[in-house]
Amino acid sequence: MMNCKLLFAISAFVLPALAINNFFGVSTSNSIGGTSSYTCRTQAQWNTLANNAKNAGFKSIRVTGFDCDALERSSAAAAAAGIQVMAGIYVAGSIASAITQINNEVQLFRTAYAKYGAGRYVGLTIGNEVNDSAGNIMAKVYDVRGYLRSVGVTTPVSTVHTWVAIRNDPALCGADFAGANAHAFYDGGRTSGQAGDFVFKTVVPALKAACPGKKIYITESGWPSRGGNLGVAVASLNDERNALLNLNCACRDDRSISVYAFEYDDQNWKGNDNERSFGIFGKFNLLGDVFAPC
Ligand SMILES: *[C@@H]1O[C@H](CO)[C@@H](O)[C@H](O)[C@H]1NC(C)=O
Repeated sequence: MMNCKLLFAISAFVLPALAINNFFGVSTSNSIGGTSSYTCRTQAQWNTLANNAKNAGFKSIRVTGFDCDALERSSAAAAAAGIQVMAGIYVAGSIASAITQINNEVQLFRTAYAKYGAGRYVGLTIGNEVNDSAGNIMAKVYDVRGYLRSVGVTTPVSTVHTWVAIRNDPALCGADFAGANAHAFYDGGRTSGQAGDFVFKTVVPALKAACPGKKIYITESGWPSRGGNLGVAVASLNDERNALLNLNCACRDDRSISVYAFEYDDQNWKGNDNERSFGIFGKFNLLGDVFAPC
C-alpha cells in the first residue's frame, strides 16, 4: 500500500481541489423556470432537475406542493437519481379552508410512500408559512402524523414556517422536526457576504433555543439576482453568487443542520423581480466556482 504522506504529496500535484457542496438539498417549484406563466414540469423535466441536483452534490430536493402531479414526478425522478425528497403539502389559505385538499394529498403521500419506500422521504410538511394560528396548523400536523403512524408510515412530519414565527411560537417545531425558512436578504441589514453568518449565528441559535433536541432543517435560504435592494442587501448576480458561496462555507460549521438552497431555477410567474430571481441552476458553475472555496 502506498505511503499516505507520499500519496498526499502526489495528489496535491495532480488533483484539482475537490469542491464540495455542503448544502443538504435544493428547494424547487413545480413550474419550469424562466416562464411568466406557471407551467408544470414534465416527468422528463423533473428527471433533468433531479440529475442536475445530484451532479451538483445536493442530496435532496424539496417539493413545496403536490399540484402538477409533483409528488409522483419528483419521487420518480429522485428515485432514478438516487436522492431524497422533502415532500411539502401546500396550504394556500387557512388550514380549515384546505382540509379536504390536505386529506386528499395525505393519501397521495401514502401511495407514493408505498411505491418509492420510506427511505425516499426526508419528511412530510403540512403547509409553508401558512397564514393561520400555530394552534390550528399544529392540530392538523398532529392529526396527519397520527393517521400516518396508524397506517405504518414512519416519515417525520412537521410544518414549514419562517424562522421568526418558530422562534416566537415554538409550538411550530413541536412535531418531528423544525422546518424554517431563513433569508438574509429579506431580514434586512445583511450583505450577501453575511448570508452564512445570518443563518448559522443568528437563526440556528434561536431555533436551537426554541426547539431543544429537534432536528433543524433550514428549508429555504438563498439570494435574488434581480430587483430592488433592501438596505445593504443588494440584488445582483454577483451578490447571489457571493451569498451561495458564503452559505455553502457556513454549512460546514454545524453538520447537524440541513440547509436547502432556494431555489432550483428562476420563477418568473412570481410577484416581483426579487422573488422571481432566486434561481441557482443555469446561472453559475456550482462545483467549479461557487462551491469551490469550501
Ligand atoms: C391572513 O388571514 C387573514 C384573515 O384570517 C386575512 O385578513 C389576511 O389578509 C391574510 N393574509 C394574507 C397574506 O393572505
